[in-house]
Amino acid sequence: MKDVKKLNIATSQGLFEEATKLIPGGVLGARKPSDFIQGEYPVFIEFGKGGRIIDVDGNEYIDFLCGYGPIILGYREEEVDEAVIQQIRDKGFCFTLTQRYQNQLAKKLRELVPSSEMSIFLKTGSDATTASIRIARAHTNRVKVVRCGYHGWHDWCVEMKGGIPEKFYEDVYEFRYNKLDQFEGLMAKYGKETAAIIMTPFGHPNHQKMEEPQPGFLEGVREIATKYGAVLIFDEVRTNFRLSMGGAQKLYGVTPDLSVLGKSMANGYAISVVTGKAEVMMAAAQKLFISSTFFPNSDGYVAALKTIEVLERENVIDNIWKKGDRFLKKVRNIMSKHDVGAELTGVAPMFYITFKKDEAETHRARRDDFYTQLIRRGIFLHPHHHGYICYRHTEQDLDSAVQAIDEALTYVSTKHQYKPL
Ligand SMILES: Cc1ncc(COP(=O)(O)O)c(C=O)c1O
Repeated sequence: MKDVKKLNIATSQGLFEEATKLIPGGVLGARKPSDFIQGEYPVFIEFGKGGRIIDVDGNEYIDFLCGYGPIILGYREEEVDEAVIQQIRDKGFCFTLTQRYQNQLAKKLRELVPSSEMSIFLKTGSDATTASIRIARAHTNRVKVVRCGYHGWHDWCVEMKGGIPEKFYEDVYEFRYNKLDQFEGLMAKYGKETAAIIMTPFGHPNHQKMEEPQPGFLEGVREIATKYGAVLIFDEVRTNFRLSMGGAQKLYGVTPDLSVLGKSMANGYAISVVTGKAEVMMAAAQKLFISSTFFPNSDGYVAALKTIEVLERENVIDNIWKKGDRFLKKVRNIMSKHDVGAELTGVAPMFYITFKKDEAETHRARRDDFYTQLIRRGIFLHPHHHGYICYRHTEQDLDSAVQAIDEALTYVSTKHQYKPL
């Protein structure tokens, strides 16, 4: 199978080299070149439109990372950007006091998200998961937290523990998605001291296959949380306004006490939410100080209100499910033709291709070759993170991706002998 020429990413690499002298590590966190495939993926982006991005060397990609999740409509969605620009020009967005949009957005969330009665608005997902834990601790007067999933970079939950005193996370216990027994065991031990159970209602653990809830899993967690009087928090930062307008909780019919939303609710503008039962949320007013200079800035609220308006008016989530289902069916078909140990998991709005281990431990090499072939063909998928489908991805974009996946798998199958374990 023919290889495809390596991309010219010289400008990206030059900027990265310069960045290492200005920024520790060059770029932060999940944007590091070593998190992709070093030397193959671009590091700096120039611009994007719809479902496509152009890097600083002029390479164009169909982008399935969608900014790591916030882009639900598409890049530079005019209606949303215009609403924000108009707000900035006509009224302003940064004041001492609060603008009226917070009430409008809280009312809208109450219509859409099953657990939503009252909301507080912040800027990032990490702000909001951390605030939700503080609210739960204040409400229950308990300390311990049981968790499942990625919840951001803050002290209590981040994977890399450098710079964090142990006492900041020593009361936090983890369980695996879909392992109800494990969760039950933790709760049998710590349930009476547990303030919060925070989990992603859909399984998207870092670097691993995606998982839908097994029958009874979410219901089981809900029941046990109630039994012990712990606050159940669904971290829907990735899933709300993606799996449905009311998140995974609406799709799967299990309602938590609090929910955390972020990412796609404002098509890229910074805003996040803790929303939930009034009885629990009132702890935020009575016992806590949650505040930032920037939390009331209305650019994010205006963008969220407009994004939600477009999502509803154009039935965006339905569109994404339908075209995504057609796309995943084609990808599954192709994958069945190539015996390379590739696996497709997830659902239409969020999906991931991973590689099974084999005797010779070639899974990393097969993965890296596969994703290298994709990026060289202008398909921006991530070797260590699932992809997303957005509204502005066209059928043609998806068909181009199907073809590239076919070619990349053919390349992998001619280069590697896959012997299943
Ligand atoms: C499920 C989940 N929770 C929380 C966060 C943290 O959000 P942020 O990166 O905006 O702080 C993320 C970010 O990827 C996430 O995926």
